[in-house]
Amino acid sequence: MKITARAHTNIALIKYWGKRDEQLFLPMNNSISITLDQFYTTTSVAFRDDLKADSFILNGIEMGGHEVDKISRFLDLIRQTAGRNEYAIIDSVNNVPTAAGFASSASGFAALAAASTKAIGLDYSGSDLSRIARFGSGSACRSIYGGYVEWNKGVRVDGTDSYAMQILEESKWDLSILSVMVEARQKKVLSREGMTHTVKTSDFYSGWLETIDADLNLAREAIHGRDFEKLGTVLERNALKMHATMLGANPPFFYWTGATLDVMHTVQELRDSGIQAYFTIDAGPNVKVICQPKDEMAVKERMQQIQTVREVFVCHPGPGVSYIGE
Ligand code: PMV
Repeated sequence: MKITARAHTNIALIKYWGKRDEQLFLPMNNSISITLDQFYTTTSVAFRDDLKADSFILNGIEMGGHEVDKISRFLDLIRQTAGRNEYAIIDSVNNVPTAAGFASSASGFAALAAASTKAIGLDYSGSDLSRIARFGSGSACRSIYGGYVEWNKGVRVDGTDSYAMQILEESKWDLSILSVMVEARQKKVLSREGMTHTVKTSDFYSGWLETIDADLNLAREAIHGRDFEKLGTVLERNALKMHATMLGANPPFFYWTGATLDVMHTVQELRDSGIQAYFTIDAGPNVKVICQPKDEMAVKERMQQIQTVREVFVCHPGPGVSYIGE
């Protein structure tokens, strides 16, 4: 049976940065995110007994090598759990500007987890899906849910209590999240490699861990109290702190370009002029600017005026994973 699922990307307000167990994808700390309405992946999976290997089609093109290996390794987990050994055809369409450097691994693995578990006959709840999506990419476990989401790091060594939960529905608090795509010519350091290197070598990583619970508490309080200034202040500080751990690594590394700094400066100028806007940055040069819907147009226009900005996409809190065609 062919099953199709859709999942949306998410942006972390309080970041996941570092694993305590690399094999089980167990994070050092909890993280909090917003699922985005505009960027998503739609994936169909059908297991068949006439296939000699998994076949992965992405945006209409048959993938090979590393791309298909990643998917196969994930499906091996599903096959193992279900006690089955058929290979699958995976057909995936990304509605994420991946060429622009926006990550699609979260929506990709969340959609794959939902479609493949159902296609193989597993009856999985949201938390089961979140737990398994984690093995594709940590941040994917948050994309199972819509709105405001927290990934609980868990305490067990087997990772069974490490999964995400919704903390506020998308309809309960509208915010504007502007994805600001900048010029980028920098060599990529994958988030997976970046965080491992940071945990192992950064002089500042202990500071990250010592202050993360305070950041998480502030973010939770701000979300429940719909306190935008409080949320903005802590999310921007948390992002800068994450990037500071990379500057303290040995050797140090960073993801910013001149254009990234242009956007950061502009956000600070907007605040000086009385418009509340805050930025966050993941493992790449692009910036997400968060503001209230009433300021969305003004912030967007200001971002588009920056010479080194290529495109601005506007998102709002979006839904969790869903099955299509049911
Ligand atoms: O799970 P990954 O490999 O996509 O890593 C995500 C790391 C950050 O995007 C930098 C932070 C986060 O919590 O999404």
